[in-house]
Amino acid sequence: MLNIRLNNGVEMPLEGFGVFQVSDPAQCKQAVLDAIGAGYRLIDTAAIYMNEDAVGEAVKEAITTGLVKREDLFITSKLWVSDFGYENAKRGFQRSLDKLGFDYIDLYLLHQPFGDVYGAWLALEELYNNGLIRAIGVSNFYPGKFTEFAELVDTKPMVNQIELHPFFSQYEAIKNMKRYGCHPQAWGPLAEGNHGIFSHPVLSLIGKNHNKSAAQIALKWNVQRGVSILPKSVHKERMEQNIDIWDFELTGNEIKQIDALDLGHSEIVDHNSPDLVRYLLSARVN
Ligand SMILES: NC(=O)c1ccc[n+]([C@@H]2O[C@H](COP(=O)([O-])OP(=O)(O)OC[C@H]3O[C@@H](n4cnc5c(N)ncnc54)[C@H](OP(=O)(O)O)[C@@H]3O)[C@@H](O)[C@H]2O)c1
Repeated sequence: MLNIRLNNGVEMPLEGFGVFQVSDPAQCKQAVLDAIGAGYRLIDTAAIYMNEDAVGEAVKEAITTGLVKREDLFITSKLWVSDFGYENAKRGFQRSLDKLGFDYIDLYLLHQPFGDVYGAWLALEELYNNGLIRAIGVSNFYPGKFTEFAELVDTKPMVNQIELHPFFSQYEAIKNMKRYGCHPQAWGPLAEGNHGIFSHPVLSLIGKNHNKSAAQIALKWNVQRGVSILPKSVHKERMEQNIDIWDFELTGNEIKQIDALDLGHSEIVDHNSPDLVRYLLSARVN
């Protein structure tokens, strides 16, 4: 497993484990324990996933049983829109820290590009400068919004976590993020199972060349272009499969074939949709 160095020098694993939609606390705790056991060292949660406490419990157990030390792990969480604004953001961060039961969070992101992102960012900069967060960033900041934000803030976001998979490759967005020293991190690296990804003919055929599954090919494609990945699974054998991608390389020709799958748009979420924006602004963290 390789690490990448963020623009502030902090090292982050190129592959992590995501817990979106793992809402049952016992299942979430077990999934995180299984993931750590399988070798994942980055866990990606968020206040709005309502499972930070289960993630925290799993981490605590992994530490007390001697599986890992806290400093071996890289934990990401995200501030929800209803906690944006300077004062709210400080409260939201403290709530996440308390639920996780940690002294610090490794990476903390503004989850969506809506609401008072600038006030919230001021709070994140302060928490970062006080050593409570090791790296700060954003998520779902589409190119125009990302550019406005990166131009105007003092501390440039170290990560932008966006939807990135073979059906939505976003090469131009990535190029623009890199101009500001921002690392692209993929959510939905398996396209949340859409487009028949797990039996896709192009990915499966390339997989045969390397004795790997279509899922492993999709994950490796992102990693090879410098994008970090956060596959989610509640099944241990799939967690193990998804992390077993470090012993082969895709050829230039294979990468071209995967690049050709790009649809140029998301079929999961549209950040320009008024209904989506209204929905995101109305969602609340418990
Ligand atoms: N910042 C954001 O707004 C945002 C949005 C979405 C996601 N994320 C983060 O990114 C992480 C990953 O994204 P995601 O959870 O949306 O989707 P994903 O990782 O692309 O896909 C997860 C789906 O694929 C299945 N799966 C995983 N590995 C498999 C394999 N090897 N073979 C067959 N099926 C497999 C899982 O099923 P099982 O669990 O049943 O195995 C699940 O249904 C999230 O968990 C979250 O941490 C962030």
